[in-house]
Amino acid sequence: METIRNPRVMQQTVREYLQRGHSIGFVPTMGALHDGHMSLVQRCREENDVSVVSIFVNPIQFGPSEDFNRYPRDTEDDVAKLAEAGVDILFMPGVEEMYPEGFATYVEVEHLSDRLCGRFRPGHFRGVATVVTKLLNIVRPARAYFGRKDYQQALIIRQLVRDLDIDTETVVCPTVREPDGLAMSSRNTYLSPRERKAAAVIYKALCRAKEEVLSANGTFAEARVLMEGCLSAEPLVDEVEYASVFDPETLEDICSRDVTIYDKGTVLLAAAVRIGRARLIDNELVDITGRQGSRRS
Ligand code: PAJ
Repeated sequence: METIRNPRVMQQTVREYLQRGHSIGFVPTMGALHDGHMSLVQRCREENDVSVVSIFVNPIQFGPSEDFNRYPRDTEDDVAKLAEAGVDILFMPGVEEMYPEGFATYVEVEHLSDRLCGRFRPGHFRGVATVVTKLLNIVRPARAYFGRKDYQQALIIRQLVRDLDIDTETVVCPTVREPDGLAMSSRNTYLSPRERKAAAVIYKALCRAKEEVLSANGTFAEARVLMEGCLSAEPLVDEVEYASVFDPETLEDICSRDVTIYDKGTVLLAAAVRIGRARLIDNELVDITGRQGSRRS
């Protein structure tokens, strides 16, 4: 595996691969790699001639009171995992290279960025959209891989790729979970053993809500109540930022809508909670076209 730190060197390397007719697959990450990241890497390897992974903890997507400084960094372990997985190129730029003095251009995806996590993390998606645009321009991949765990992020990236005519296919991969259902996340390392155990409640709440929206008489409103109830009942959950039912394309909160006249076929159940020092998110995409029987409004 070749490690490249300079964006210009990365661009030159990519140019050579493209001239030889190779397809490039790309997985952007912030490191502290776990099996969720590695599932994207594996898919990337399967579908492309050359696989590039980036590790860059992007300062501009963290708010002033967020965890940029203490975000887990374990480069040695990450390098070993990526080499073992057969990645061709690790791109690991420094902050000064990505944001040199005088940097002044930002990418903002309207509407989608204001909802769900956007309400609690102002400027976060502007930082994500900006760095992903830069990374896609540097790596110029045929395909870029993202996790459904960060559903809103993937949707925003899909939108920016479309809007800015970036010649990359956005591939969204399933969420990889721990045996108790907790979605894998670099931020799970912030949890104490007790908090880690308690964190399984997030997926449990999503599963309860899923049962409700799939049941013959289920409603979106009740699904939300169940989710919030389940999360608030866990003493180690300090705050429920949101837990509701959303339109999977517009991210509008649809919990007050009548399920019988909802015509999209799929709904997004999503939640964000604070447990100790960690802010954790998770979601489930539910196909409700199979709902049967009588309905209540
Ligand atoms: P990071 O949190 O490191 O995640 C990198 C990629 O891994 C994202 O696409 C994320 O959705 C995916 N991922 C994380 N946990 C996952 C899981 N349990 N199952 C499947 N996929 C998972 O997301 C970012 O970094 C950054 O915002 C980034 C896109 C790199 C821009 O800075």
